[in-house]
Amino acid sequence: MDKIWVAFALMATVQGAKLVSGDFGKTREGAPVRIYTLTNKHGVEATITNYGGRVVSLKVPDKKGALGDVVLGFDSIDGYLNENPYFGALIGRYANRIGHAQFTLDGVLYKVPKNDGDNSLHGGTRGFDKVVWTAREMKDGGLELSYLSKDGEEGYPGNCKVTVIYHLTDLNELKIEYAATTDKDTVVNLTNHSYFNLKGGGDILGHILTLNADRFTPVDGGLIPTGELKPVTGTPFDFRKATGVGRRIEQNDEQLKLGKGYDHNWVLNKKGAELSLAARVEEPESGRVMEVWTTQPGIQFYTGNFLDGTIQGKGGRVYARRSALCLETQHFPDSPNKPKFPSTVLKPGMAFKSTTIYKFVRSPL
Ligand code: BGC
Repeated sequence: MDKIWVAFALMATVQGAKLVSGDFGKTREGAPVRIYTLTNKHGVEATITNYGGRVVSLKVPDKKGALGDVVLGFDSIDGYLNENPYFGALIGRYANRIGHAQFTLDGVLYKVPKNDGDNSLHGGTRGFDKVVWTAREMKDGGLELSYLSKDGEEGYPGNCKVTVIYHLTDLNELKIEYAATTDKDTVVNLTNHSYFNLKGGGDILGHILTLNADRFTPVDGGLIPTGELKPVTGTPFDFRKATGVGRRIEQNDEQLKLGKGYDHNWVLNKKGAELSLAARVEEPESGRVMEVWTTQPGIQFYTGNFLDGTIQGKGGRVYARRSALCLETQHFPDSPNKPKFPSTVLKPGMAFKSTTIYKFVRSPL
């Protein structure tokens, strides 16, 4: 009997999720940064640093079972400290754009940094992607990251306590759970900004995408939603049936021109805040399939239009235009200025919670 229990215990540690950590260098201010390796029982592996809560690598099987890294990023902390478009990062306090970098809350006008023309993008000059998060290694193999964004930080009101938990499950899911509280009314929009390429190289135009959304939010020249929830029917934004990403991307369409490709928020078909399938991406060559599940109302599908080959990433690979795609689960951009959009206001006593899962399945051989 005892022997059987010992055997079970051993199996649990060998087969269950594992977490090990190591040194990842220092920030320019000298703060030590760690890197965490999460592994599941199939050997699927995610490495995550507490600098910006960034997913550094994500190794998932192809149709033959060979593991390959499906996210863009850097081999060392230096790449992340240099200018880069949020590779793998946790984004906040407000993910995506706030028009004219200002909003009114409870009759008070708040100004946030203009870091994208006249607008504020991804939390401002020093958003959650550029801070060192406090890490806690969980007994179940998960990684908990927490950060206190102080009252007035990047212009946002309220001390906002944010916790993000990463798990790599035995179902080959990278599961991200977000939670936030505040001591003053504020706005919150949190996401992860991983850049995926399921082939592990080349461009993403041959990736096949399905989006569970009947409508999207068209934008103006600054990529700020006009406020309209536009039906996708008859537009290149209709991904309700699996369609190649590159199939319509160069069409003569006003919205595609404004985004220089896809860089828009889709309104997910759902009843409320239930966990539902938002997107599915299939890459025919590798046979890798990624599903995106979320409790959030929207998803930003971005085709890496602003990558321009100037950044050299892991293994010296040059990140060319459209060499990756992002599927950022979120509340709609500019919600603080759009009273008709689902609210992003967080008040004291309320608990913001959301879950997003990137699930990797293999297409049959
Ligand atoms: C935005 C893009 C932006 C990219 C990197 C995306 O979430 O929608 O417009 O270029 O992030 O900053």
